[in-house]
Amino acid sequence: MTASPPTLLHIDASARRRSLSREIGDAFADAWRSSHPEGAYLHRDLALDPVPQISEAWTELCDHVLAHQITDIARYPEAVRGPARAAAWAIVEPLLVELVAADTVLIAAPMYNFSVPASLKAWIDQVAFPRMSLAGRRFVVAYARGGAYGPGTPRHPYDHHERYLRDFLAGHFAIPDEAMSFVGAELVNSRTDPALAGRRRDHDASRATALATARKLGGTR
Ligand SMILES: Cc1cc2nc3c(=O)[nH]c(=O)nc-3n(C[C@H](O)[C@H](O)[C@H](O)COP(=O)(O)O)c2cc1C
Repeated sequence: MTASPPTLLHIDASARRRSLSREIGDAFADAWRSSHPEGAYLHRDLALDPVPQISEAWTELCDHVLAHQITDIARYPEAVRGPARAAAWAIVEPLLVELVAADTVLIAAPMYNFSVPASLKAWIDQVAFPRMSLAGRRFVVAYARGGAYGPGTPRHPYDHHERYLRDFLAGHFAIPDEAMSFVGAELVNSRTDPALAGRRRDHDASRATALATARKLGGTR
């Protein structure tokens, strides 16, 4: 039997093509691909190819998994009964297959309205089943934000973006802190908002640091 190759699942969610979260995520992915020539690379663009919101039938799949205490993802198809659940499963199965195959999951996530884009939340709602552990995997989040939300800034309490993703990955998928990396650019709005023009240098510095960190993280085997 041959061991499966290291696999990177790369999720994009920005509505923009020229996007900072895409640029930083690509820096990680390019470095990862160079340092893992034997690896498998899966890319899903949730802006170009959105996943639908969960349906009532999806909640029935979820209730079945919960009621029967199913924790083995390979047993989820036992929940598929009838055409509505089959249609819901046809949407979620390919998403789960690529998520489970990945040992590294890269999520490129812009901040929208203090949180993650609805396209990314729709994907999370689809793939998150009760008591589903993804322990053993590494998660990398490449982010971009219009403002500054770091500790000590006035906007820090409004960060439901990194805070949400950290809590979700730890609380639902059992990913320990040391298996998560967050790398991103702040103050992106200084490029367009005259009121933030004075912070352009800070943005440029944060982008340069994020790109260098993403390349370094991606190149680490
Ligand atoms: C719909 C929308 C909502 C946004 N909400 C926020 C916000 O709450 N806080 C913030 O700092 N920036 C916000 N921004 C700015 C983005 O975070 C910023 O443009 C970032 O660069 C987007 O990532 P991207 O470059 O990968 O598209 C928002 C942008 C859009 C389009």
